[in-house]
Amino acid sequence: MEALRQEIRKSAPDNSFAACLADGLLRTPKEIACKYFYDAEGSALFDAICALPEYYQTRTEVALLRRHAGEIADLIGADAEIVEFGAGALRKVRILLDALEQPRGYTPIDISGAYLREVTRTLAADYPQLALRPVVGDFTLPMHLPGIENGRRAGFFPGSTIGNFRPDTAMALLRRMREMLNGGGLLIGVDLVKDPAILHAAYNDAAGVTAAFNKNLLARANRELNAGFDLEAFAHYAPYNPKAQRIEMYLVSLKRQSAKLDGRLVEFQAGEAIHTEDSHKYTIESFREIAARAGFIPRAVWTDENRLFSLHWLESR
Ligand code: AVI
Repeated sequence: MEALRQEIRKSAPDNSFAACLADGLLRTPKEIACKYFYDAEGSALFDAICALPEYYQTRTEVALLRRHAGEIADLIGADAEIVEFGAGALRKVRILLDALEQPRGYTPIDISGAYLREVTRTLAADYPQLALRPVVGDFTLPMHLPGIENGRRAGFFPGSTIGNFRPDTAMALLRRMREMLNGGGLLIGVDLVKDPAILHAAYNDAAGVTAAFNKNLLARANRELNAGFDLEAFAHYAPYNPKAQRIEMYLVSLKRQSAKLDGRLVEFQAGEAIHTEDSHKYTIESFREIAARAGFIPRAVWTDENRLFSLHWLESR
């Protein structure tokens, strides 16, 4: 758990966007924690990324969920409370809910409160019988889940969000999820190592949506904190690091400039980068190894014919 604690501590004294931003931009090298992408605008931009032709993850994972929904529902079993970590648009879970036998309820957890409230309302209209227990919060921090009497939980963590944590932190996070699930299993989507050209295209789309998503961190700082960043003076840069098997995302300052944050002056040299995200890719074996180190028993795994993406069913020991 130390890795998880360290990463969280690193990101904030009080965990607010204002404090984290000032803190991260006064470090060398500069960084902003990727969880701050997801305000309402950022969540909408991420939705747009998921529909991009270059971003194969979402459509491949959705196809896997659809193809194996019956088998997955059998593994989860009847009467389970589905807990989704970082729930986003609540689209993928519908495939599960439609296949499951009498799900007891659904607990979506998301950091973006306004967005979660909006999407939960839509889901409630479509699933009037389902007990919904939305939780606004950061699932990387200790949190309390709404109680379910004598119930079994099953976790759902799609979209390869696990890849946005360093492998040691990912392992600690999986361990915490296992504890939160209280003996229940976890269905998790994991993006796979592949031809770097495919990965590069997915994070450098022709329409520039990923660039806008990345720059939304600065746009958000302007909206919420009056930071006065010149968005044109930063470039989106997202190379693949083959040794670390991850996409690294940066905002690179195109000139010498400064901004005022939290009453403090932040200076940028021309060419200086802000590290905004890592997106780690795994092999099926390397992910199963991390899951096992977190105390799960890796059971079923599904992948597409091109081995772009994987879905894992992990059971608790
Ligand atoms: C949410 N997460 C899994 C996405 C990813 O692919 O790492 C976030 C993202 N960043 C750029 N494009 C998408």
